[in-house]
Amino acid sequence: MAIGILLVGGFGTRLKPLTNQTPKPMLPIGGLPVTEHQLLAAKKAGINTVILATSYLSEVFIPYFGDGSKWGMKLLYAVEKEPLGTGGAIRNAAAMVGFSQSSEDFVIFNGDVLSKHDIAAQLDFHKANSADATLHLIEVADARAFGCVPTDSVGRVTDFLEKMDNPITNDINAGCYVFSPSVISEIPEGKVISIERETFPQLVKSGRPVYGYREQSYWLDIGTPAALFRGSRDFVAGDFMAGVGTKIASDCIITGGSSIGAGSSIGTGSVITNSIVGDGVFIGDNCTITDSFILHNCQIASGTEIIGKYISPTENLPISTQ
Ligand code: GTP
Repeated sequence: MAIGILLVGGFGTRLKPLTNQTPKPMLPIGGLPVTEHQLLAAKKAGINTVILATSYLSEVFIPYFGDGSKWGMKLLYAVEKEPLGTGGAIRNAAAMVGFSQSSEDFVIFNGDVLSKHDIAAQLDFHKANSADATLHLIEVADARAFGCVPTDSVGRVTDFLEKMDNPITNDINAGCYVFSPSVISEIPEGKVISIERETFPQLVKSGRPVYGYREQSYWLDIGTPAALFRGSRDFVAGDFMAGVGTKIASDCIITGGSSIGAGSSIGTGSVITNSIVGDGVFIGDNCTITDSFILHNCQIASGTEIIGKYISPTENLPISTQ
């Protein structure tokens, strides 16, 4: 079976300040880190060994995921002292399982994507084409903000194009790739390499079999605060959801697809709208929390009003969720 690599080492600059203390892939969607949603999707596709390619705030992942046995998976951690870029990170992570002797394909996940596409079908498509690399492609209404990836009639990638005003296709790279082990050995070792800007264009230019697996299913890149909140609302799909052991006073009003983590407590008369609240958070009585992100283990005093804010145990900063 294939081996998974999750790219989770980026700085998450566009999500600041939410990523000041939490790496982007550990931000919660419906009470679970984005990475956990991805592990569950990988497992569903029969991928039981996954390497987390970490760098920024790498120490946050291991206490949460451990050796993966809680999920019935084997998890390994490849830590880059300095971020090696998406390509360098893949090479570094794959070395942990001796990719040069491996006959197994690698499935690489950008760690900031929620996708319900059929990973097993993407792997089958890769094998059926004897491809070197196969990318999941998604069609967007307006591709101007993305690089686009044209394919021919059998799905072979013909080019990798940078952002442009008149994209020639609306198919974009959805951030999940299958790689044959031979391709990984061609990524230079210990160097900063971008898979999107260097490896893929070079493979296509040199005529190697790179394919696009097109599937339209739920897909979201959670790279900005507005997108993260959209992903959370999509997951909640109702007024709100709350995790195990959370106590909510009966007269609280919680709406707007808010998500409350596990082991939290919300006092009488509090109103929470379009917000993400972490685990172990204490919110006192008569608080108003709107369009805000409250990190795990915060204490909010009774009567506090929080609008458009990121709150951690040590920070109180404005955010925009629109
Ligand atoms: P921005 O700073 O907001 O652009 O975010 P980012 O760099 O964290 O993410 P980007 O969208 O550029 O990268 C896609 C995925 O690759 C994310 O899940 C990142 O965590 C991951 N990633 C980016 N650069 C590196 C890196 O140098 N090393 C590792 N291990 N992962 C990376």
